[in-house]
Amino acid sequence: MPKEELRPRPAVERMAPYSPPTGGRADMLRLDFNENTIGCSPRVTQFIAENLTENDLAVYPEYTDARRELSEFFQVPEDEMLFTNGTDEAIQVLVNTYVDDEDEVLLLRPSYAMYKFYSEVAGAVVREIDYRVAKLEFPLQELLGAITPSTRAILIANPNNPTGTGTNLEGIERILKKAPNAAVLIDEAYYEFCGITALPLIEEYPNLFVSRTFSKVYGMAGMRFGCLFSRASNIKWMHKAQSPYSVNSLAALAARAAVRDQGYIRKYVTEVLAARELLYVGLENLKIPYFQSQANFVLIHAGDRAIPVRDALRAKSILIRDRSYELPGCVRVTVGTRDQIRLFLEELAAIW
Ligand SMILES: Cc1ncc(COP(=O)(O)O)c(C=O)c1O
Repeated sequence: MPKEELRPRPAVERMAPYSPPTGGRADMLRLDFNENTIGCSPRVTQFIAENLTENDLAVYPEYTDARRELSEFFQVPEDEMLFTNGTDEAIQVLVNTYVDDEDEVLLLRPSYAMYKFYSEVAGAVVREIDYRVAKLEFPLQELLGAITPSTRAILIANPNNPTGTGTNLEGIERILKKAPNAAVLIDEAYYEFCGITALPLIEEYPNLFVSRTFSKVYGMAGMRFGCLFSRASNIKWMHKAQSPYSVNSLAALAARAAVRDQGYIRKYVTEVLAARELLYVGLENLKIPYFQSQANFVLIHAGDRAIPVRDALRAKSILIRDRSYELPGCVRVTVGTRDQIRLFLEELAAIW
């Protein structure tokens, strides 16, 4: 019997551990993961209850109906769209398709942790460009300056998590033009809250990839469903590198029902935008600095009280996310409904 522990690949050994706090969140006010804080449209669960048979679960997933309906909804041909197990799998498939060991990947800092995670698993060389300090603005000039002919991928969230700041289409086009050899991902996880999308640019730029998720405004984070869009020739390669059944039957069924209820989505977005204004006013009254956001979360500057504030709120069953390890003094608060934000502000005022 061998006594030595089995060693992983050096790339995996080198990785910093990433363990998001999960578990025990169900009964709390969850302002920590930028989810929909009231749940998905009831039509989604109703559709599943009415359409899911025992036989459906016995069969490997079939995507024909979902592909037709989502292609219609997004107004993108079926061969320019890939279903993924959340955006996370979209990032993974993109990296696996285009990035080799030692290849260079450009990221912004701070940003969504999974870009670095999958790049590091692949053994890529990650270069990070910082958001501009004062207002956490998108560092367009700095990013353009960092692109080299050997840049193989550039992974950008627009708007970005956790800063809440975004860039415009003009900036995105400049990046696409400057990096013809790189797969450029524009992750639009929070698109519905800001309305800026690079999706129409797909026809024009062969190096553009756009992702959307059903984990945020659609309230289906537990389903793990996302869509990745690009030119048909790119989608063909990524399809080849993807596990054939990574999206389960239930998720495909739920996504079909979800896109049909746009009334629910519009109403939730309107509510969140009103709640965000309420949050700004409440923070100003408390004289707590914050960053203007284009998404359903706001970064708050709590100074040296970041962790105590998070912990004190947790004791009141309100979850927020500490970001002080990457942005000194900052915590991130997901914006839910106005009632939820009123409750948050009340508890915050009591401990501030
Ligand atoms: C920018 C960004 N992209 C993607 C995700 C996760 O998406 P999914 O649940 O679809 O994997 C998040 C979640 O926090 C995010 O902030």
